[in-house]
Amino acid sequence: MTTNNDHKTTRSDDGDLTIHDDAIKNSVTRSATLALDHALDHAKTWLDRLDSRPVAPETDLATLRNRLGGVIPDRGMSPERVIDELVALSESGHMGSASGRFFAWVIGGSLTSALAADWLVSTWDQNAAIYTCGPSVSVIEETAGAWILELLDLPREASFAFTTGCQSAHVTSLAAARHSLLMRQGWNVEEEGLFTAPPLTVLTTAQHHESIDRAVRFLGVGRKSIKLIPMNENGQATAAGLSTALKDNDGPTIVVLNAADLNIGACDDFNELIPIAHDADAWVHIDGAFGLFARASRAKRHLLNGVDLADSWATDAHKWLNVPFDCGIAIIRDSVAHRAAMTVSTSYISSNGDARDQIDWNPEWSRRARGVPVYAALKELGRGGVEALVDRCCTFCDALVNGIGALQGARVVAAPTLNQGLVRFELAGATEEENDERTAEVIDRINATGEAFFSGVDWRGQRAMRISVINWRTTLADVERTIDAVATALA
Ligand SMILES: Cc1ncc(COP(=O)(O)O)c(C=O)c1O
Repeated sequence: MTTNNDHKTTRSDDGDLTIHDDAIKNSVTRSATLALDHALDHAKTWLDRLDSRPVAPETDLATLRNRLGGVIPDRGMSPERVIDELVALSESGHMGSASGRFFAWVIGGSLTSALAADWLVSTWDQNAAIYTCGPSVSVIEETAGAWILELLDLPREASFAFTTGCQSAHVTSLAAARHSLLMRQGWNVEEEGLFTAPPLTVLTTAQHHESIDRAVRFLGVGRKSIKLIPMNENGQATAAGLSTALKDNDGPTIVVLNAADLNIGACDDFNELIPIAHDADAWVHIDGAFGLFARASRAKRHLLNGVDLADSWATDAHKWLNVPFDCGIAIIRDSVAHRAAMTVSTSYISSNGDARDQIDWNPEWSRRARGVPVYAALKELGRGGVEALVDRCCTFCDALVNGIGALQGARVVAAPTLNQGLVRFELAGATEEENDERTAEVIDRINATGEAFFSGVDWRGQRAMRISVINWRTTLADVERTIDAVATALA
C-alpha cells in the first residue's frame, strides 16, 4: 500500500485509489478555499490584462491539444494546483472576446455584478429545476423574468424561461407555438407526436438566423417546412410577400420575424406584418437575440414598434445585457401553451403551492440558476444603465463603421441603424472575386495585429467585414485604437 500525503489518497496493492474522509474535510476547509483564492487572482489578472493582451488567441490547435490533451490522470492533485495549471495551459488559447475591441459575431462582455453573481450561482450549486430545491434562486429568477418583461415592454402576463441561449429559447417558444397551432386543429402534439399531424409551415425571410432552422429540426417540423417571404432592400419581409405566402400555405403556420438580424440589424415592420399574420391565424415568433434590448432605448425603440403584438419572443441576456454565457430568454404570451409544451410531473418532484417551478417552463430538467446574473445585471444597471449601454454601443458602431469606411481602400456596405454594420476592402480596378479575397485578407491582417478582432460574412453575394458592438467595455478610445489598427492593416 502507498500513501500520498500531498493528495490525501491511498493506493492499495491491487491499485484501488481511496480518498480519505480527512482529505475531503481538508479539501473543504483549506485547499478548496485556496483554489477559490487562486481562481479569484487569476480572474482579476485576466480582466486586468484584457486591454493589453492581444484580442486574438496566441496558440494554435496542435499546441493546445498537446498541452491540454493526453490521458486521464491516474493520480489527483490539489484543487489550487488544478486551477493554476488550467490557467497556465489554456490562457494563451483564449479569445479576448470580453475585451472592448472584439467586434466579431455578436458576443457581449460580462458586467462585473453579473460575473460575480454567476460565480455565486456555481458556489450555491442550487438545482434550479424546482422551487423546493432552490427557493431563493427560484424567486430571483421569477423577479428577473418580470423585470425583463418590463424592460422590454412586452406583455406583463407573458410567461418566460431562462434557457441556455437564444437557440434553446427558439426551441422553447416554437414548441409552444406547435402546441397551440395543432391544438387549434384538434391535435394534441405532446400525446400524439407529429407523424400524422397536420403539417406545420414556417414563414420567414432569407435573413433569418440558422438557429431557427435548427429549432425547426429539433421540433420534428423539418427544414422543408420553412418557406421564404420576399424582402425589400432593407432586409424586411414585405407585406405583399407575407400575404401571398399565407394564402399559399393555409395550414397551421408560424411566422418568424427579425428584431435585428445579425448583419445589418434589420428589423421587420411589426406593426404592418403581425396583424396580417394574425388575420390568417398564424403564430408570430420574434428572433430578438440582441435586438429586443433596443426596446430599452428611447432613441432606438421606434425600430421595434409593434413587436409587442407577437406571440413569442426569443432573446439573449448573454448578448446585450452582458451577462456571462449561457443565458437566453424565451417569452411566450400564451402561458398555457408554454406550460403545456414544457411541463412535466412525476411523484418525486414536489410542487410548493404557487411557487414557480422552472421545470414547467424550461426544456432542461436539472439546471443552473442562470437568471441570477440577469437579476444582478439589472440591479447594477437599472433601466437607465441598460439604455445607456444600448445607446453607447450604437454610437460606437456608427463611429467604427464610418471611421473604417472613410479609410482609403475601404467602403461602407451597410451603415448601422443599430449596433451592426458592414464594410468591405477593395482595390481599384480589381474584380469582385479579388475584392472578396482582399476583404478576407485584410480581416486576417487586422486580427493578426492583436489590436482588434473582426469576422467576415457573405452578404448579398459579396464578402464583407461585420462590425458588431455589444460590449459594455468598449470605449471611444477602443474605437480610435481600432480604426488606427485597420489603417495600419490596410497600409
Ligand atoms: C439573430 C440571432 N438569433 C439567434 C442567435 C443564436 O443565439 P445563441 O447563440 O444564444 O443560441 C444569434 C447568435 O448570434 C443571433 O445573432
